[in-house]
Amino acid sequence: MIKTSAPAKIILCGEHAVVYGRPAIALPLSDVRAYAEASPSVPGAGLRFVAPDLGESWAPADSPQHPMSELAAAAMAHLGAPAPNLTIILRSGIPIAGGMGSGAAIGAALVRALAAAAGRELPPAEVSALVYASEARYHGTPSGIDNTVIAYEQAIWFQRQPPGPPLIAPVSIGAPLSLVIGDTGVRSATHMPVGALRTRWQADPAAYEVLFDAVAEQVQRALEALAAGDLAGLGSALDANQSLLERMGVSSPELDRLVGAARAAGALGAKLSGAGWGGVMISLAPAGGQEAIAAALREAGAARVRVAAVAAQAV
Ligand code: PMV
Repeated sequence: MIKTSAPAKIILCGEHAVVYGRPAIALPLSDVRAYAEASPSVPGAGLRFVAPDLGESWAPADSPQHPMSELAAAAMAHLGAPAPNLTIILRSGIPIAGGMGSGAAIGAALVRALAAAAGRELPPAEVSALVYASEARYHGTPSGIDNTVIAYEQAIWFQRQPPGPPLIAPVSIGAPLSLVIGDTGVRSATHMPVGALRTRWQADPAAYEVLFDAVAEQVQRALEALAAGDLAGLGSALDANQSLLERMGVSSPELDRLVGAARAAGALGAKLSGAGWGGVMISLAPAGGQEAIAAALREAGAARVRVAAVAAQAV
């Protein structure tokens, strides 16, 4: 049996503005993962997917339009491999539509399983490109940050540079971080707030370009604070980013409540993470402060709270 996986992710700062060419920073959450388990089946059986979490099972040959069927077809074409006789079980510990990259992580695990079954290991850039093409079919205008951070599994600085490839650089983290992540429990598909923001930007591009430039400044501040291990500076950049996200109209009452609760419980900074309107928020805990913040988030109605330790990273 082949077992492959890919991590969840969070966007530390810069979401939404990243779609419009500004930089963003994203981190993998290596403890929260999606898995693909491939076992050989009888010759002629073809490929079959089982998704126990969703109670679904299907053969791509019968449901070629399914996102995972299309991704598998693209991966096999890329590998130049014939259709394998495999059953692939897809499992995920990442909440769906929760801002933690569940779709991209399942896709990356699937691509790796198909490659492994063909006796290959694809480099992160190739896994990322296949998953990006799949996300682009369903989410309209993804920036590419999700598939990138998940496929590379390291903290990255990401900036689109169309028509060329995006700028992807590992980020230096001078001191370990403790993030407390609160899930609103509200599921929101990424394309909804992304589409609403696009409509508002089209109506008044100048106003939104100013907001996106202001986000880029906070992402730059966050980069410098991260490298210096300056937690207070990082927290302040996260707070400023949240104010800008609120002005862009992508926060929500539930997100605002959790952000407020985290700050009141001592977080150095807090913001929504991902597309907004639901999903998760992140907060930066001071040393030893994560339990108080986690309790405050639960008290404020978080459906789920996780504490994520982010290791220092030298680049
Ligand atoms: O919904 P998520 O967590 O995958 O976040 C999407 C991030 C956005 O910047 C809002 C969109 C994008 O494609 O980058």
